[in-house]
Amino acid sequence: MVASGVVRKASRVGGRPVKIASLATYVPPRLLTNADLEQMVDTSDEWILKRTGIRERHIVDPGVATSDLGQEASVKAIKNAGLEPDDIGVIVVGTVTPDMFFPSTACLIQHKIGAHRAWGFDLSAACSAFTYSLTTASQMVASGAHEHALVVGADVMSSIIDYTDRSTCILFGDGAGAVVLSAAHPGDGAILDFEHEVDGGGGPALCMPAGGSLRQASHETVDQRLHYVKQDGQAVFKFAVRKTEEISRRVLERNGLTPADLDLFVSHQANRRIIQAATEKLGVHPDKVIINIERFGNTTAATIPLALNDALCSGRLKKGNLVLLASVGAGFTIGTVLLRWGF
Ligand code: UT7
Repeated sequence: MVASGVVRKASRVGGRPVKIASLATYVPPRLLTNADLEQMVDTSDEWILKRTGIRERHIVDPGVATSDLGQEASVKAIKNAGLEPDDIGVIVVGTVTPDMFFPSTACLIQHKIGAHRAWGFDLSAACSAFTYSLTTASQMVASGAHEHALVVGADVMSSIIDYTDRSTCILFGDGAGAVVLSAAHPGDGAILDFEHEVDGGGGPALCMPAGGSLRQASHETVDQRLHYVKQDGQAVFKFAVRKTEEISRRVLERNGLTPADLDLFVSHQANRRIIQAATEKLGVHPDKVIINIERFGNTTAATIPLALNDALCSGRLKKGNLVLLASVGAGFTIGTVLLRWGF
C-alpha cells in the first residue's frame, strides 16, 4: 500500500512502503566567497555568478573532516525523527571524501553518534551518492531487515580541490545532509520509484587521478597535483543536462506521470545553468525547481539534502508533495528517486 495517489505501472520499488521520516543538514560556518576567490586565482565574481550561479560556499577549518559534518547532520536527523541512535539498524554514507581510505566514514559516524546497534558502509557514487544511498538503504527497510536506516550525504570537497585551478576551485563547497528512513504507514509519504545508471566511459572526464592503487601517492604525484579533482567541464556539463532530462522523463513515464504532476524537482546542484537547461528540456515549471547553489556551491553528496532543507524551511516543500530527486556525477553516475513527501 502506497499512500501516493500515483498510478504504478512498473515501479522498481518492492516490499513494504518506506518514507523519509526526517531531514537535517549541517554546513561549517566559515565562508569562501567569490571575492575571496578573486584574491586566490584569476577570476571574477561576475564570471562565477554568470557561469555557475554560485556566490559563496562553506569550507571547513583545518582538522574538520567529513565524519564531523556527517555527525552533526545525523544527530539532528535522528532527533527530528523522534528516535534514539540505538534505533538505527544501518548507516549508509555517500561520500567521495572519506576521512581516510579505511575505516569507512560510516564506521566513524556510527561511533561518534553512538548508534551501537547499527552496521554500515560508505557508498562511492560522487554527486549521485545521495540518490544511490537513498535507494540502497530504502531496500533494507522495505525488505523488513531494518526498521530505521540512516542515510548521510557528506563531503569535504575543499580537501581535494586545487585552489590554484580556477576552473574547479570556484565550484565546490563542504556540507552534509542526513535523513532517517522508516517503514511508512497509510497516509505517510513514501519512496515510489527509482532509476539509476552508470556510464563508466565517462570516468576520465571527472576524477582524482592519484592516491589510489593505480597511481599510488608519491612525491611525483604530489608535485604534479594529481591528488586534486580534474574535470573536463564542458563534457560533464553536456552529459549532465542530457542525462538529468532523460532519466527523469523515464521514471515519470513509468509511473504514468508527466512533469506537470510534480510539485518539486530537486536536482543535484552542480551549476545553475545545468539545472535550468535540463528542467527546461524536461518541461518542469521554474517555480517547481529548487536552486540553492548560490549559497553552497557544489557540495557533492550533500547538495540534494541541502536543497530539500531549503525547500522545507521556505515552505516550498510540504507534506503530500510529489518530489523528483535527480543527480549526475563522476563515474558517470546517474540517479533519480521519485517520492511522496511525508512531513
Ligand atoms: O557535479 C558534477 C560535477 N561538475 C559539473 O557538473 C560541472 C560541469 N561543468 C561546468 O559547470 C562548466 O563547464 C564550468 C563552470 C566548469 C565552466 O564553464 P564553461 O561555461 O563551460 O566555461 P569553459 O570551460 O568553456 O571556459 C570558458 C572560458 C575559458 O577561457 P577561454 O579559453 O575562452 O579564453 C576558461 O579559461 O572561461 C575561462 N574560465 C574562467 N574564467 C574566469 C574557466 N574558469 C574560469 C574562472 N574565471 N573561474
